[in-house]
Amino acid sequence: MKLEKERIEEEKKKAALEAVKHVKDGFVVGLGSGSTAAYAIKEIGKRIRQEEIRVLGIPTSYQAFLLAVQCGIPITTLEEHPKVDLTIDGADQIDRELNLIKGMGGALAREKIVAFASEKLIIVADESKKVEILGENNHPVPIEVLPFAAAILMHKIREYGGKPTLREGSGKVGPVITDNGNVIIDVDFGLIQSPAELENELKRFPGVVETGLFVGMADIVYIGKRSGVEELTRNRKVEKKN
Ligand code: A5P
Repeated sequence: MKLEKERIEEEKKKAALEAVKHVKDGFVVGLGSGSTAAYAIKEIGKRIRQEEIRVLGIPTSYQAFLLAVQCGIPITTLEEHPKVDLTIDGADQIDRELNLIKGMGGALAREKIVAFASEKLIIVADESKKVEILGENNHPVPIEVLPFAAAILMHKIREYGGKPTLREGSGKVGPVITDNGNVIIDVDFGLIQSPAELENELKRFPGVVETGLFVGMADIVYIGKRSGVEELTRNRKVEKKN
């Protein structure tokens, strides 16, 4: 019997491969961060080598940048290409309306900016990421904040009803420092009944750079399953068998 971990990796890969079918010759593609998006980056590299398609990648993190370079994907920037054809990224939680919590890899700010620049955002994930309501199982919302504002924001978020934790690094003492030189506060808000409202409220706090709530941004979600890949769009759901 396959190990659980191995099965989850297969599901992630299936979802990623389905998403990469959307990549066409001449596309500028946003390259997501995290372990599921990594499968998509590798597959794009493979298609560039095998099919000789011309693709330019815009990485959403240093991790995505390094992997893209290893995979032979030419890199570009939002300065050179402010219009991105497609972004493929992972997520930590996905609700029925395709609202997302992202940012457990700490790349949420650049991920959201690249998604914002994109014509289409495709999310790839394994089944464990699907939830009824964001915030289930006390899943926190990562919030990237200016270091100067971290202490006061922890205080204000507590007053607002959230349970904040400053994200600690590993392999280093002290907090995680993002690719933008900021820190991350992970906040347990309990069940998030209105992600849009919470997002709007949080963006009013001075010092908040970006939140991991992606509301109304995803166009398609591919969920890798044992039996194939499930496609979710904002208005319909289609099952695909492999
Ligand atoms: C990175 O900051 C995140 O938004 C990732 O996309 C998200 O955490 C999903 O990562 P995995 O695919 O590794 O679960």
